[in-house]
Amino acid sequence: MADHHGKSNGRGSNGRNGRSRYAHIIGWGMALPSRVMTNDEIAQMVDTSDAWIRERTGIRERRIAGAKDSTATLALRAAKCALEVANVSPADLNLIIVATATPEYLFPATACLVQDWLGAENAGAFDLSAGCTGFVYALSLAAQTIISGAADTVLVIGSETLSRIVDWQDRGTCILFGDGAGAVVLRASNMPGGVLTTLLRSDGSGGELLALPGGGSRYPPSPTTVLNGMHKIHMNGREVFRFATRVMAQATRSVVEDAGLTLEDIALVIPHQANIRIIEAAARSLGMPMEKMYVNIERYGNTSSASIPIALCEAIESGRIKADDYIVLVAFGAGLTWGAATIKWVPTPPPASPLEQRAHAVRYWWAALRSAWRRFWRRLESRLKGPATASEK
Ligand code: ACO
Repeated sequence: MADHHGKSNGRGSNGRNGRSRYAHIIGWGMALPSRVMTNDEIAQMVDTSDAWIRERTGIRERRIAGAKDSTATLALRAAKCALEVANVSPADLNLIIVATATPEYLFPATACLVQDWLGAENAGAFDLSAGCTGFVYALSLAAQTIISGAADTVLVIGSETLSRIVDWQDRGTCILFGDGAGAVVLRASNMPGGVLTTLLRSDGSGGELLALPGGGSRYPPSPTTVLNGMHKIHMNGREVFRFATRVMAQATRSVVEDAGLTLEDIALVIPHQANIRIIEAAARSLGMPMEKMYVNIERYGNTSSASIPIALCEAIESGRIKADDYIVLVAFGAGLTWGAATIKWVPTPPPASPLEQRAHAVRYWWAALRSAWRRFWRRLESRLKGPATASEK
């Protein structure tokens, strides 16, 4: 474990400046609902066609959460995979961040549910809301927390069940979104590499371009908000498209320059999977061939803050990322927000052996038991003791 504190360059980035504490991705995992929804199925609900959706978005199909799936259960599945690859015990986690636009509840945080289910008894946990840029924001925060010395091991998850907030009668939005989750484990190391630079930006003046207006303090849930469809995604697709094509290339250039690199040094860009035309426009603007852009939108659609960690997992597992490669993650989303990160990929420890995997399974079982016991004890205590006394308050 490293024992020195890192430096930031003061622009929301780190890197370039000498330091001896780094944040490496040592584990990754993803979870997808089994239900596949094709474009043809959507064409039975709204006036659209498979050909239109493929041509205008690049999407062929997406995954849809089943009755037993939720943002928290998908997050948990992805987290367990990532911990397994990292061969890290939940008890070693100092922090859990869940980036999501579709949290399990307004509160408690989805991250707290995951913390309880994992039995991550030494971790703080919170949700982060930055639309589809959420994962990049969370990764940046996790890396800075590690580099500063405030944490050694952090779990970052992007998880979404967008199908639950999509207006299935709006052909401008329902064709785009899908459900899923991806997670990474970051750990402190004194080996140079890992998350080198990050950039986080926001322009709230464009907030209404992509919003879920109902259910917050401005428009609390009421029969009127429900009747007016205010609990569903509202989007100005053309404006979001214009904004996205502008910021994706800008953000990529910026983090690459901050890392002291050039675009030629970048082996792979993992862009937020929102629309193939946005990814193509970014590649054109950067003068990069499409082979350097990771694309899986045809299979999953836009899974918001889960899209980058899912793509990252696939890229690693298919051998698209090799030791010492420089990669860029870049996203945009509701807020409006956008952000990017440059990562130097370093060899990771071998994943858990079958025996260690079994030990992890026992730990999860124990965590469930402990959680049930705590709930039971809390109820019993409140019955036995009655209302809290003044001294307890
Ligand atoms: N099927 C058939 N026709 C359609 C459909 C559809 N599903 N949707 C729109 N059309 C029609 C429109 O009505 C319009 O018809 P008109 O010319 O007669 O008026 C025509 O197609 C063109 O409409 P546009 O809106 O200009 O279509 P565009 O090429 O911009 O594609 C799309 C629309 C796919 C929504 C695109 O604008 C887009 O991808 N925008 C970005 C959205 C995005 O990335 N959002 C996620 C942000 S991340 C987050 O935080 C959640």
